[in-house]
Amino acid sequence: MIGALGAFTIAYRRSQQAVRRSGGPSAETVRADRSRVGFRVSTPPAPEPEPVVEEPEPVAEEPEPAGVGAGVQLVEVQRVVEVSPEEAGVTRRQFFNRAILATFFAGFIGQMGMSALANFWPKLRGGFGADVDAGAVTDLQAQTVSADGSVTPVFVPEARAYVVPAPAQLSDQFEGMPVAAGGLMALFQRCVHLGCRVPWCATSVGFECPCHGSKYNSIGEYFGGPAPRNLDRFAVEVVGDRFIIKTGTILETPRAQQMSVNYPQGPSCIGAVEAH
Ligand code: FES
Repeated sequence: MIGALGAFTIAYRRSQQAVRRSGGPSAETVRADRSRVGFRVSTPPAPEPEPVVEEPEPVAEEPEPAGVGAGVQLVEVQRVVEVSPEEAGVTRRQFFNRAILATFFAGFIGQMGMSALANFWPKLRGGFGADVDAGAVTDLQAQTVSADGSVTPVFVPEARAYVVPAPAQLSDQFEGMPVAAGGLMALFQRCVHLGCRVPWCATSVGFECPCHGSKYNSIGEYFGGPAPRNLDRFAVEVVGDRFIIKTGTILETPRAQQMSVNYPQGPSCIGAVEAH
């Protein structure tokens, strides 16, 4: 009896081991075994279902602006748009050309303005172009004519004029002109040919131009040379005892047909010239 029970036990364990190795008996096998053997065989617990982890729905990402992101360096971009000269309006060359022209015209206008101001300036300060007080009439008369009768002009720089004694009788070409006052006249120093300053020649008693040889007598009447007319002169007047040279009024006269004063009265300072 004990031997039969031991054999049964060994056979049962082997069957159980075989069942485990095969993955477990089916439900029918278990029930058949229970009914046949009379004891309960426990079924292996069913594996617990793995917890379901809900994955978050993907969130739609906003598109990043171009060029922006991790590790991306912002770079300033300059757009160069080429346009035609018509679209641009003024090209660089046109700009410089116009700037040069504007500078030139500004300089020209400035020069003209300065010249105009220079013409008016003497009048404001009483210099050339205005009335010039040459001195007392009596003093000038004594200086221009010596006791022996010789003539010596008095040069007045401010008036650019020679003061000379006026003859008692003037030629007709000066008729009605304010060329003499107080026995004195005022001659413009400028040669009427090309503008040289005409010096006095004491020996010939006249004015002789060293530039081209024009000659004039002591009151500026034309004698010879290329000068087209007599020396110009200024209007004069006597105010009180003062001899006033009106340098704003230049009087021109043609070549004298008949001179009021003899010339030459001695040797010339510049040599012989053809007399008219
Ligand atoms: S400038 Fe006097 S003669 Fe010519």
